Amino acid sequence: MAAIREFEPIDDAGVDALLREAFAGEAEARLVRALRAAGDVALELVAEDADGIAGMVLFSKMISPRGALAMAPLAVAPRAQGKGFGGSLIAAGLARAEMAGWLAAFVLGAPGLYARHGFSVEAAAHFPGPYPARFMLARALCAGGLADPAPLVYAPAFAALGS
Ligand SMILES: CC(C)(COP(=O)(O)OP(=O)(O)OC[C@H]1O[C@@H](n2cnc3c(N)ncnc32)[C@H](O)[C@@H]1OP(=O)(O)O)[C@@H](O)C(=O)NCCC(=O)NCCS
Repeated sequence: MAAIREFEPIDDAGVDALLREAFAGEAEARLVRALRAAGDVALELVAEDADGIAGMVLFSKMISPRGALAMAPLAVAPRAQGKGFGGSLIAAGLARAEMAGWLAAFVLGAPGLYARHGFSVEAAAHFPGPYPARFMLARALCAGGLADPAPLVYAPAFAALGS
């Protein structure tokens, strides 16, 4: 069972190594550093197992819609995948975001992985953004949290992802 807690500065190297391993590259590690540096992180959680940092999830503040969060990246170390760490990180993050009063969360990815956490493509339909609509999912975090259509504008650090 994973212990899930808030990211602390001492986790920096462990999270960096995790991201490079899980994504087989540097882009996500750079994204996380840029989001932290810009003050655009709303919530960052880590999962720990006996060997250290085994997973992480970050929720960043979106420019539009206001009050919404982007859930990215989500990563679990290859050694720990398939044990429920990813699902636990998502659930813990959404619960905290809801408690903190955020309106909604958006995620880009495989619908099958996120549907069980209340995300759907339909909920994101009125929020046109920079990514393919069939992989863009949303979930309200309070009643009416997705009531007002708006363009999706991510924190500036996302513009550099993949470049
Ligand atoms: C995707 C990832 C976070 C899942 O973490 P995990 O701890 O292995 O996930 P869990 O054990 O909590 O859940 C696994 C479940 O999700 C499903 N799943 C895992 N990856 C999936 C994917 N890409 N698409 C659809 N379903 C997926 C599994 O089949 C499993 O379903 P089950 O519970 O019915 O058997 C992990 O594989 C990972 O870090 N991958 C590399 C980075 C990445 O792709 N991140 C997501 C995009 S930012």
